[in-house]
Amino acid sequence: MELELARLKDEAIQTLKGVTVASELEPFRVKFLGRKGGSLTGVMRQLAEVPKEDRPRLGQLANEIKKEVTALFEQKKQDLSAGQTPQKQSELDLSLPGRSLPFGKLHPVTQVMEEICSIFEGMGFAVAEGPDVETDHYNFEALNIPKHHPARDMHDTFYVSDSILLRTHTSNMQARIMENMEPPLRYIAPGKVYRCDSDITHTPMFVQVEGFLVDRDVSFADLKGVLTSFLHHMFSQDLAVRFRPSFFPFTEPSAEVDIACVICGGEGCRVCKRTGWIEILGAGLIDPEVMKMVGYDPDEYSGFAFGLGVERIAMLKYGINDIRLYYENDLRFLSQF
Ligand code: DAH
Repeated sequence: MELELARLKDEAIQTLKGVTVASELEPFRVKFLGRKGGSLTGVMRQLAEVPKEDRPRLGQLANEIKKEVTALFEQKKQDLSAGQTPQKQSELDLSLPGRSLPFGKLHPVTQVMEEICSIFEGMGFAVAEGPDVETDHYNFEALNIPKHHPARDMHDTFYVSDSILLRTHTSNMQARIMENMEPPLRYIAPGKVYRCDSDITHTPMFVQVEGFLVDRDVSFADLKGVLTSFLHHMFSQDLAVRFRPSFFPFTEPSAEVDIACVICGGEGCRVCKRTGWIEILGAGLIDPEVMKMVGYDPDEYSGFAFGLGVERIAMLKYGINDIRLYYENDLRFLSQF
């Protein structure tokens, strides 16, 4: 009987250790401590059959074991029922350092836009912003692009109504600023523009920076000087730059500006289509017609204007070949800048 008691004690302790949820408590109690079929109770009943002289010793032993198992059972019950919360609280170490949140960053296109603006601000240009939803007048008419002018084909315009649209370029800021001010003027206007176009080099929304300067005796040489200086700051001081004749309705003469391919250094590669040059912006001397429309006398004043695509510059700066990456919001891409 002594052996039987020892075995029962071990079994009860082991079983109790394995109890992890409150629902297992009652079956344990019934099995070991229950008044009717409980195994400890059962052994104690057999006391009547042991020799008289052994009875007190075995009775005491059996009582001690029952007490011990009952105490362990009560302890377990407390742990599990009041259970979770106090235990969790004791795991909470208030002296541990806090977990830091990851830092956000400016979008790469915003970073490049700010860099562009700061280079021009360094040359004395002021920054102005204007509306994305624009009238046909400022986006086209005031820039010498009347209705049915073939140049409108260059712009895949999102129309809101017949006369309201999403601006297709930041050139809308030229007339907006000029009609309210007198020369001399030196402005850049960064902002979003919209065109119905989407492939690896076009997104329906992109960012441009428009710039213009109006004063007496402004010449093409001034334009070349300002833009060359800008491109040298943006890329590298010894970057080759070339001006190619082109056409824009709001500038005369007009030019497209190329830089030596930043990928191959001018040797010729896939990005520059083996020409060694990459087109980077459009520019020209402000057309006298545009001057007249805002009330300036083209015989007294002249000026230059330019427009550049920020994503394109950022792509060349960072060696990115698909413009859509900028707008897919994949943090693995964006957090690299
Ligand atoms: N607005 C033109 C475009 O979006 C870019 C441009 C070309 C702006 C020549 C200018 C300029 O100011 O002189 O394609």
